Amino acid sequence: MEYIEEADYDSLIIPYQDAMANLMTRLDSLNNDYRRKYKNYPIHHMQERIKKKESIEEKLRRKGFEISVKGIEENLADVAGIRVICSFPDDIYATAKMLTDQDDIRVIQVKDYIINPKPNGYRSLHLILEVPIFLSNEKKNMKVEVQFRTIAMDFWASLEHKLKYKKNIENAEEISKELQRCAEASSQLDLRMQALRDRIEAERE
Ligand code: GTP
Ligand code: MG
Repeated sequence: MEYIEEADYDSLIIPYQDAMANLMTRLDSLNNDYRRKYKNYPIHHMQERIKKKESIEEKLRRKGFEISVKGIEENLADVAGIRVICSFPDDIYATAKMLTDQDDIRVIQVKDYIINPKPNGYRSLHLILEVPIFLSNEKKNMKVEVQFRTIAMDFWASLEHKLKYKKNIENAEEISKELQRCAEASSQLDLRMQALRDRIEAERE
């Protein structure tokens, strides 16, 4: 079975780590500036991860791509991943816009699973961004996957991931319907909390 050399993986991920750290810093900075101007933080917290060697190999194999550094660079956009967890749905779009408006960031792909939730109820805004990083003798454009969600969307996605129920168990149909209803309820709650926030903000002015 083909695999990626340990040493190749170690050097492959260095620029991805740099690109991810760079974006984390930009997001932090946006969060602080927004707080100064509008008196609240749009970002609740963030998570970052570099895809493990085994997961990269598994994905390349599953999708039928070459198991090599070239195969990774040409086909995988989620070697570096950041999850931005916001308090309210509006914060997601405000933060995503501030980031993608930066003139050296290129938006490669947008998947809006908030406007168009997945059939199972999954909601999040997924962006593939390209950010330049400067090495000693070259500039490299690195892809990073950034997922934006509210706390409620993250709560649902974490539990759904944990449940990862088998499709062939008894009542699978009913279980997925119930998961979908939970996603719906959670989304209603997001909108109600946001409406509350807007009312409180309006009274402050
Ligand atoms: P991949 O081959 O998995 O990358 O599929 P894709 O390129 O169509 O990616 P997509 O943007 O749909 O989702 C990628 C990531 O989003 C996953 O690795 C998860 O982190 C998250 N995700 C997508 N769908 C679900 C879901 O139904 N449940 C949960 N818990 N997470 C999801
Ligand atoms: Mg993907």
